[in-house]
Amino acid sequence: MQHPKTILITGGNTGIGLATATQLAIAGHTVILACRNQEKAKQAASQIKQRKADADVRVYPLDLASFDSIRQFSAKISADFPMIDVLINNAGAYPVKQQFTEEGFELQFGVNYLGHYLLTQLLLPVITKAPEARIIHVSSIMHNLGKIDFDTFRGRAKYSGTTAYGQSKLANALFSSALAKRLPAHVTSNAVHPGGVDSDIYREFPSLVHKIFKLFLISTDRAGAYLVNMAVGDDWKGRTGEFKSAHGPLPISKRAKDEAMIERLYLESAKLAGVNAI
Ligand SMILES: NC(=O)c1ccc[n+]([C@@H]2O[C@H](COP(=O)([O-])OP(=O)(O)OC[C@H]3O[C@@H](n4cnc5c(N)ncnc54)[C@H](OP(=O)(O)O)[C@@H]3O)[C@@H](O)[C@H]2O)c1
Repeated sequence: MQHPKTILITGGNTGIGLATATQLAIAGHTVILACRNQEKAKQAASQIKQRKADADVRVYPLDLASFDSIRQFSAKISADFPMIDVLINNAGAYPVKQQFTEEGFELQFGVNYLGHYLLTQLLLPVITKAPEARIIHVSSIMHNLGKIDFDTFRGRAKYSGTTAYGQSKLANALFSSALAKRLPAHVTSNAVHPGGVDSDIYREFPSLVHKIFKLFLISTDRAGAYLVNMAVGDDWKGRTGEFKSAHGPLPISKRAKDEAMIERLYLESAKLAGVNAI
């Protein structure tokens, strides 16, 4: 068994997050499930404990659609844990109809990206205390369909769930690169496309489209295994600024490598989130 790590995963109550959390907890790591839905989170923790009775799984409330919730959560985690070795920014939503966060940001931009931006900045003091820390951003191959349009962060007159999703996932990749340039050498930042994965994320798709989709999807366990390796595997030691795929080749959009946008979005996001960024 490796030296046990403390690993925080957002959206760990289902899907890829739960599969990742389960494998990490079974391997003996302390796993913090940061979840909006506390009932589902408690069920997820007991499901993990059924697989390993002494699994160290902690459940904390976090709603990424609320800056207050993110701030309260980060303060609690910083008080309860001396350090966080791995942060996995995994939670994500893909709503078909336009929705908004508490602060009025379009939900996918707000939850998938900006909420994680704020969370990461607030947790950096405890992350940098770890001797060797890793930050993982769950992006997507769908970032290729995204474009950063500063005029849409608070909503679009003509909403497309896929366009908004693509933008949020591109923003995840850009954030990962911006952090990789800024973090101290003992903290890494990498993005991942977990694959086309058979989770609940496509729940709002028409059922026929969903059925066809399912034929091409990999299991949450397979995607989780890739994330586990990124989180604790020796072959990810010291690697930073990468964007990899857990399933098949990953074309990376030119927009994800746009240095000017990496900087612009990072600096603008600090203002939007009201946080002093590193
Ligand atoms: N599945 C795929 O094919 C695929 C492909 C590429 C990338 N991804 C990415 O993989 C990540 C995990 O997705 P998944 O497929 O496992 O989807 P999922 O099964 O729908 O899980 C999404 C998780 O995010 C949480 N979440 C949603 N809104 C939240 C909020 N406001 N605050 C806190 N947590 C929130 C959900 O919590 P609740 O239970 O409370 O809703 C759930 O735990 C996402 O970032 C997604 O974009 C997935």
